[in-house]
Amino acid sequence: MNRQWLYAKQPQGKIAPDTFQWTETAIPAPREGEALVRTRMLSLDPANRAWMMGKTYRDALEPGQVMSGFAIGEVVESKSGGLKAGDIVEGDWGWQDYAAMPARRLTKRTIKAPFELLIGPLSITGLTAYFGLLNIGQPKPGDTVLVSAAAGAVGTMAGQIAKLAGCRVIGTAGGQDKCDWLVRDLGFDAAVDYKAGGVYRALKAVCPNGIDVYFDNTGGPVLDAALSLMNLRGRIVCCGNVSQYDVEKPAPGPVAVPGLVVTKRLRLEGFVVMDFFDQRAEAEAKLARWVEEGKIKAIVDIVDGLDKAPQALIGLFEGRNKGKMAIRI
Ligand SMILES: NC(=O)c1ccc[n+]([C@@H]2O[C@H](COP(=O)([O-])OP(=O)(O)OC[C@H]3O[C@@H](n4cnc5c(N)ncnc54)[C@H](OP(=O)(O)O)[C@@H]3O)[C@@H](O)[C@H]2O)c1
Repeated sequence: MNRQWLYAKQPQGKIAPDTFQWTETAIPAPREGEALVRTRMLSLDPANRAWMMGKTYRDALEPGQVMSGFAIGEVVESKSGGLKAGDIVEGDWGWQDYAAMPARRLTKRTIKAPFELLIGPLSITGLTAYFGLLNIGQPKPGDTVLVSAAAGAVGTMAGQIAKLAGCRVIGTAGGQDKCDWLVRDLGFDAAVDYKAGGVYRALKAVCPNGIDVYFDNTGGPVLDAALSLMNLRGRIVCCGNVSQYDVEKPAPGPVAVPGLVVTKRLRLEGFVVMDFFDQRAEAEAKLARWVEEGKIKAIVDIVDGLDKAPQALIGLFEGRNKGKMAIRI
């Protein structure tokens, strides 16, 4: 049988177990041009929640559909010339054991690495950190780089890449334990617990020379504080807005933005990782080398069992993860 989680209904406020519905159905047969894939790991992403609220860079989720999500798996049977049984592929086939997918919507993975790395650090997560920081943030040695949600999937990678670029790196994260871990285990120069309050004062204290690059994963109060601390010609990498995804109504934007952007000549630039996929092979090879040489620690937070997916996604918004949260099937 094919076990699946359906997206049941739009949450009012926070996601809850009843946002999803468990079902079991027959394993589909691939048609011409398709491949049957068996899921090995599911990526849990803050964006899963954002897709419930409306159109983003993709269509909004519709109640009744299989819950969408990025996954990695192996081809069991192929009716497409480009794929064969045993190939490792990634794609968005959602929260289920099996899917018959058009081959053009699958990406064959050729890097030899465990699924734990292929689901995040050597895929979307690592690439998001890499392209966002290097292509948009353009850090220079000696710059002060601030990363929010720094203990998460993208944040742990972005912070470590910024260290490799010769920067002074500050993170924000929820709780003192995560902050201590960032400094002790991942080489951050300082970390601020945004949940402790007084985030502007705390950031000012650890960024005495201001901030040159802010890698923004959260929006919200950390963005407000960072804006006031940005240096002349600073760059804000608008990667995500996790503080506003799991809420009934997103907060209004910071009123001070236009004035600060003008006087400080700031550049705020949003991106979606796919924008840079023409550079994917080179970036992945570099990330793989850094991980292999121990220059970057690939942090993955694995939850076992498809049945645990809803609770794990709820946990992501409570900050239960360190590094990339993924479901192993
Ligand atoms: N632009 C792109 O192409 C792209 C691609 C992938 C991801 N993203 C974005 O990157 C960001 C990070 O994603 P990720 O996959 O790496 O997730 P993640 O950081 O591993 O997980 C989310 C983290 O967000 C933090 N968080 C939850 N609620 C928060 C709140 N109200 N305020 C501040 N922090 C909160 C939690 O950590 P704490 O304990 O610190 O609260 C949690 O661990 C997200 O905004 C995501 O949408 C963008």
